[in-house]
This record gives sequence, structure tokens and C-alpha cells, in this order.
Amino acid sequence: MDGDPLVHAPPPDGVCTGNGSALRPEPAASDAQPLVVGISGGTGIVYGIRMLQALRAGGVPTHLVFSRGARLTLPHECGLTVRDVLALADVHHHPDDMAAAVSSGSFRTRGMVVAPCSVKSLAQIATGVCDTLLARAADVTLKERRRLVLMVRETPLTLTHLRNMATVTENGAIIAPPVPAFYIRPRTLDDVIDQSVGRVLDLFGIDTGSFARWRRPDASQPATHPLPERGDRPCESALS
Ligand SMILES: Cc1cc2nc3c(=O)[nH]c(=O)nc-3n(C[C@H](O)[C@H](O)[C@H](O)COP(=O)(O)O)c2cc1C
Repeated sequence: MDGDPLVHAPPPDGVCTGNGSALRPEPAASDAQPLVVGISGGTGIVYGIRMLQALRAGGVPTHLVFSRGARLTLPHECGLTVRDVLALADVHHHPDDMAAAVSSGSFRTRGMVVAPCSVKSLAQIATGVCDTLLARAADVTLKERRRLVLMVRETPLTLTHLRNMATVTENGAIIAPPVPAFYIRPRTLDDVIDQSVGRVLDLFGIDTGSFARWRRPDASQPATHPLPERGDRPCESALS
């Protein structure tokens, strides 16, 4: 299908390169290893977008899996096209490409974040049903005992959602829903988004430096308004 940004040739990297040092121990995740970013169809695609931007700004290579669900949700939330989002990653993979690099544990990564993570993708990851590349890459991340962080976005939650979160946590994943911290006194949606993204990247040892960390309030300073300003456009401003 010409012109479809989700249909493309497999990326040139991630292929086997031969092994001249068979007994070398697995090194710790190096800065050169990519972080896999999954963006699923939960609301809050801007979290994944901001994640990709922060990682690019920090020089962290990224492999993106943009799900079919995310493709449907994107136009409801954002002025960006699928192509715009894919361009934020160093490598992007077709959501059905089970032969992609991130589908194999032998492809070294520093872990994976799913931002946002729908409860459908959560359920797939919890049950090991790997019929999408996003679920397969997450399953690979767990089996290789690498860090997996899921920014699960749904409310209210059913017992099934909660049980699936417990299951993936027992398997080593970290559930990190995008929940605002109001103690930073956010003035815009950008502040809210940057704080959630920054706290998730903290879990990978990556400091975005783009959000206010907790410090004891200065009693002499008045509180700023805690709600986003009207007219704020977090998706679009994320690109500026
Ligand atoms: C505008 C919109 C918002 C949605 N928000 C959510 C959400 O917050 N959480 C969720 O789990 N699913 C949400 N969905 C439903 C998912 O997109 C849908 O279940 C999809 O099949 C998920 O597939 P994926 O995980 O493969 O992307 C939303 C769908 C639309 C169209």
C-alpha cells in the first residue's frame, strides 16, 4: 500500500552481526542500546510523543512500535500525522512485523516503555498473547529480564484490569500510570506531561531535566494556579 506510513521495509539495523566472542558475558545496558517505545491506543498519545522527543534530546536511540489502536486514536487527540510521530524515532516498526528486531531477545535493548498503554495491550502482555509486535516486544523485554514500564491509561478500572496489572508486576514490569503530581504546581498541560514522562524515564536512569522535582516549598512564594491554561495544545507544542 503505497503512501501508508505504517507500511515500510524492515529497518536496516537489528540484524544478526555475527559473534566473534561467544563467551563474553552480557554487558549491562549500554548508552548505545536503544529504548523500545510502544505507543498504543489509550488516550494520551502525547505521552509517547513527548517521550520520543525527550529521548532524542538526550541522545538515547529509540525503536518505536506505533500500534494500530494508536493510529485510530491519534487524530482525535493531536494535529500530528502518523508520519510525524514515526519521524520522532530513530527506527520504527510495522505493528504486525513479527520479524522486527525488537521481536527477538537477541536484539539488545535497555528496555521498553509503553506510553500510553491501553488495557487491551496490558491484557496481552499479562497473558503472553503476542499477536501484535507491541505485545511481543513487551513479552521479550520481560523474558530477557529487562525493564518494562507500562503507562496504563484507563479509568475506572475493572478487577480484570487490576489483576492484569498485578500479573505483569509479578513478572517484573512496572505499572506507572500517567497521573499528575500537583505538588509541582503545574501551570500548563506541558508541565503535567513532562513530569509524568520524566518520572518514567527516571526508572531507566535517564534524567530529562525537564520537570520540577520535589523540594520543600518556600513559604514566602505564592502557589501558582494548578490547572492547565485554556487553549493549551500539548501535542502541537510538543513539536515546537
Ligand atoms: C479516542 C479513543 C480513546 C481511547 N482511550 C482509551 C484509553 O484511555 N484506554 C484504553 O485502554 N483504551 C482506549 N481506547 C480504546 C483502544 O484504542 C482500543 O481498545 C484498541 O483496540 C487498543 O489497541 P492497542 O492496544 O493495540 O493499541 C480508546 C480509543 C479511542 C478511539
